[in-house]
Amino acid sequence: MTDPVQETENVPESAHTLASIAQILNENPESGLEIVRAAFDAERERALTALRERAKDFESLKTVRLGFFGDKGSMSLANKQMRDLQNQHKGPVGKLLGQARAALTEAIEARTAELEAEREARILEEEAVDVTAASARRSLGGRHPVALMQEKLTDIFVGMGWEVADGPELESEWYNFDALNIKPDHPARDMQDTFYIEPREAHLVLRTHTSPVQMRAMLTRELPLYVVCPGQVYRTDELDATHTPVFHQIEGLAVDKGLTMADMKGTLEYMARAMFGEEARIRLRPNFFPFTEPSAELDLWHPNAKGGPQWIEWGGCGMVNPNVLRAAGIDPEIYSGFAFGMGIERTLMFRNNVPDMHDMIEGDIRFSEQFGMEI
Ligand code: PHE
Repeated sequence: MTDPVQETENVPESAHTLASIAQILNENPESGLEIVRAAFDAERERALTALRERAKDFESLKTVRLGFFGDKGSMSLANKQMRDLQNQHKGPVGKLLGQARAALTEAIEARTAELEAEREARILEEEAVDVTAASARRSLGGRHPVALMQEKLTDIFVGMGWEVADGPELESEWYNFDALNIKPDHPARDMQDTFYIEPREAHLVLRTHTSPVQMRAMLTRELPLYVVCPGQVYRTDELDATHTPVFHQIEGLAVDKGLTMADMKGTLEYMARAMFGEEARIRLRPNFFPFTEPSAELDLWHPNAKGGPQWIEWGGCGMVNPNVLRAAGIDPEIYSGFAFGMGIERTLMFRNNVPDMHDMIEGDIRFSEQFGMEI
């Protein structure tokens, strides 16, 4: 078997010596041990230099280590020589070998520790978080105050045990008008107020109020009935400071045995106080709606209005017209009901001092953000 060390170019003298210890000792009876000692010392130096200059990372450290301790490394070769030594030489050479191995192992361990410390420092630096740095976080956005207002009004009723009902925005004329006792000649049916959908024979409209949900709720739910119906409605109004063709209403409907206007008034007063504080009051002024009888205009005493406390028109209300109850198959001799409806944008305008409707429909995030997540 050829000696790998012999084959390799640039192998230092010391390695050659350590690969042929027995021969050296035999050839140099006087100075043999000193030559071997010098070879061990030189190997130690060579190892320290290699560790310092070449072991730059764990990978190259491993290569350096194998250069001494691997199968063809000088320490391994010296180890293999031990068998062939004369007994008298085994002790001293073994001692030299042991010292060299210990020194090399120590140096390798020291270098390993250094590299580990370097790696940790590098990780700390790379993963460091500067808590004072400006973040690239995006704004969370702002919920639209109309949606918030709709939720707030709805919650008042949900808190009293009422249910939330809804219906389609593309509504049949029958639900939007006829079922609500609105006769074909009623001015609200005029082309000027209502968006009619073509073909006209389909009898579809964009609902002009949330009242059609009254009939839908009466036809699909069990009595007694307590529902609120918030939602979007449409009228052919031009957009200006106080009007928009697309807006929101919230409708309320209660049908039960023995309900009177006193129940309606108490309910509306509760809503007014929940929205405008304990000083809020309501007032009912006679009015006409085809689907309620009697009907009233709902006025609010707004204690914190911008121009000082005052009465403000808030919505419409009344006792459900017996014709409407009958159309829903409900016996008006046994049941009675009340209903009310108000605009959500309008409520927001005088409750939160929004002077111009444009702000509500333009979708500028800066407008919404003013209200935060709650109003
Ligand atoms: N729907 C009516 C409107 O839009 C309001 C209303 C609702 C009136 C319920 C009475 C009862 O003007």
